[in-house]
Amino acid sequence: MAPLYEKALIVGATSGIGEALAAKLLAEGTSVVVTGRRRERLDAFLAAHPPPLSPSPSAATAAAMPLDVTQLGALPTFAAAVAAAHPDLDCVVFNAGIQRAFDFGRGGVDLGAFGEELTTNYVAVVHLVTALLPHLRRVAGAAGKAHLVLVGASLGLVPTLVRTPGYNASKAALHSWATALRQQLRDAGARVRVVEVFPPAVQTELHDERHQPDLVGGAAIGMPLAAFTERLYAGLAAGADQFAVGPAEPWLADGGFEAERARLFATGQEALKVALAPYIRKEDVRNGEWGGGSQDGTE
Ligand SMILES: NC(=O)c1ccc[n+]([C@@H]2O[C@H](COP(=O)([O-])OP(=O)(O)OC[C@H]3O[C@@H](n4cnc5c(N)ncnc54)[C@H](OP(=O)(O)O)[C@@H]3O)[C@@H](O)[C@H]2O)c1
Repeated sequence: MAPLYEKALIVGATSGIGEALAAKLLAEGTSVVVTGRRRERLDAFLAAHPPPLSPSPSAATAAAMPLDVTQLGALPTFAAAVAAAHPDLDCVVFNAGIQRAFDFGRGGVDLGAFGEELTTNYVAVVHLVTALLPHLRRVAGAAGKAHLVLVGASLGLVPTLVRTPGYNASKAALHSWATALRQQLRDAGARVRVVEVFPPAVQTELHDERHQPDLVGGAAIGMPLAAFTERLYAGLAAGADQFAVGPAEPWLADGGFEAERARLFATGQEALKVALAPYIRKEDVRNGEWGGGSQDGTE
C-alpha cells in the first residue's frame, strides 16, 4: 500500500495513540514530525527510529519538535517554524489530549484544571489549525490535497463517562467545530480534508495515576493500544470524513444517530445559507464568507 501521507506532524506523540500512530505511519512510509512536552520521550522516539542506513530521497524519516499546546501565544511561531523546516508537510494529526475527573455534585471543582483540559483538548486545536491552515492550503493547492486528522472521542458523541464532564464537553466542542470547519474549507474550495476519529477507551497513559490519581491501574482500561492502532490506520486508509473504532461504530454506520446528524447537517446548512442570504452584507457574500468561492484557486 502507498504511504498515506508524504509527511505528518503528530501533535502529542510522546506516548499512547500519538506515539503508536507515528511509529505505524513511519513503518508504512510516511515521514513524521513528533511533538509533545516531554523531550526525553521525543529523543527516545528518534533513537528508536534512526534514519535509514542507505538514505534515499523517498525514505521515510522522523524528526522532533518540542511543543506545549497550552502556550497559545507561541503556536503561530511553532507553526511557522514547522512549515519552514518541513515544507513537504501534508498532514497534521491533532492528538494531544488530557482527561480529568470533576464532580460538580460533591463540589470543590478545580476550575483552573477544568480550563487547562478545555484548552488542551479544544482551544489549542483551534489555534494551531488556524496557524497551520495557510501552509496546508498551499500544499493542497500544489499537491492536490492535504489532511487534518482530529482525534476526538466517543465520549464527545455520548457523554456516558459522567466522571469526566469537561473532557466529554471538550470533545463535543471539537466535533461541532470540525463539522463547520470541514464545510467552510469545502465552501472555500480548499482541498484540505478534515478527518475525525472517535476512539473507544484505549490502554494508554490517559487514565494513569499521574493524570487521574483516583484511578488504580487505569492503564489497563480499554482496548490494547496495538490493536487500536491497526484499526486507526485502516480507518485513515479507508478515507471516510469521520469514523469510530469500537462501540461507537454503529452510531456512524447507516441508520446510526451520528450518520443521521451528518445528514441533517448536510441539508440544514444548505437551507440556512439560502435563508440567511438576504440578511448577509453583500461585500461578505462577495468575499466568500458564506461559501462564495475559492480562495486557493484550487477549484
Ligand atoms: N486512551 C483512551 O481511552 C482515549 C479514548 C478516546 C480518545 N482518546 C484521545 O486520544 C488522544 C491521545 O490520548 P492517549 O490516550 O494516547 O493518552 P496519552 O498516552 O496520555 O497521550 C497524550 C499525548 O498528548 C500529549 N499532550 C498532553 N498535553 C499536552 C500539551 N499541553 N502539549 C503538547 N502535548 C500534550 C502528551 O504529551 P506530553 O505529556 O509529553 O506533552 C501525549 O503525547 C487524546 O486526544 C485523547 O483524548 C483517548
